[in-house]
Amino acid sequence: MTNKKDLVANVRTDLEKSVTLKEIEDLKVKYLGKKGAITKLLKTLGSLPPDDRKQAGIEIHTAKSQIDVLFSRRLEDITSNLIDEKIRKGTVDVTLPARSSGLKGSSHPIQLTLEKIIDIFCRLGFECQSGPEIEDEFHNFEALNISEHHPARAMHDTFYLSNNKLLRTHTSPVQIRYMKTNTPPFAMIAPGKVYRCDYDQTHTPMFHQVEGLFIGENTNLSNLKGLVAQFLKVYFNSCELKMRFRPSYFPFTEPSLEIDIKLPSKYGVESWLEVMGCGMVHPNVLKNGNIDPEKFSGFAFGMGVERLCMLEHGISDLRQFFTNDLNFLNQF
Ligand code: PHE
Repeated sequence: MTNKKDLVANVRTDLEKSVTLKEIEDLKVKYLGKKGAITKLLKTLGSLPPDDRKQAGIEIHTAKSQIDVLFSRRLEDITSNLIDEKIRKGTVDVTLPARSSGLKGSSHPIQLTLEKIIDIFCRLGFECQSGPEIEDEFHNFEALNISEHHPARAMHDTFYLSNNKLLRTHTSPVQIRYMKTNTPPFAMIAPGKVYRCDYDQTHTPMFHQVEGLFIGENTNLSNLKGLVAQFLKVYFNSCELKMRFRPSYFPFTEPSLEIDIKLPSKYGVESWLEVMGCGMVHPNVLKNGNIDPEKFSGFAFGMGVERLCMLEHGISDLRQFFTNDLNFLNQF
């Protein structure tokens, strides 16, 4: 039966002549549609003698597959020609300004607060240091005079990892690391993330602290008070900022203090608010840092970054820092 071969040849010539997608569609109807040539051929099968029927069926299906291939090839050619033409016609002006999405990135409020704190201390001559967030028990507790069964350990809600490792519960371990590798006199701050197993309106499992350590000869409590007062006045941009130094307890400082502030009226808070813990570095801690407590003394302080940021901007829920709500973040 030659008409099947002719059919394939006809499809080939028709396709070569067609240039638009519409023409291809029309040809598809003509050859492969419900009333198309192939369907017509299939309908003739019934009238053939049973002996010829099988062979004729095979031939029709072979022809159909060849036609399918021809269609898909031609379709590919035409589409790629259309794309080429589009590229050729459309000249792109690469000097045009980029279209903006309207969204502008900005620094996170915690980042801005950290930068502000670091800037103030750097201007006072402090060196900025960092330490590992995955700590060991020695640096996070023991070296800081918090022995294994010390009640202070329970207050830290520690995330323990395997192999005696843990997520540091405060930035104080950086004190030890720094003392071991530096000789006094020195002044350093260590900003960073800390972790405690706690979650509510005023606690998140991760938050930020800035540690401070100052060691020299004859360093005393009034040096600590003077420095901290200076820092807080600059931070809140107010000479009238009221401060209260309250006796407290930390195993790694003696004596220990907590500092409360009363903000100027524009901040709209009336009460005393705690902003940091501090004290004179305990002689045991100096020894653990290979520093002679007979010769040197110093002070340390640690402040919560989220706390300062919340006070400065009147933010009431700590969790807002971590929900990535653009309405909140865009205000900064
Ligand atoms: N590490 C203490 C805390 O996380 C803060 C602190 C630092 C207190 C340094 C005294 C000296 O609460």
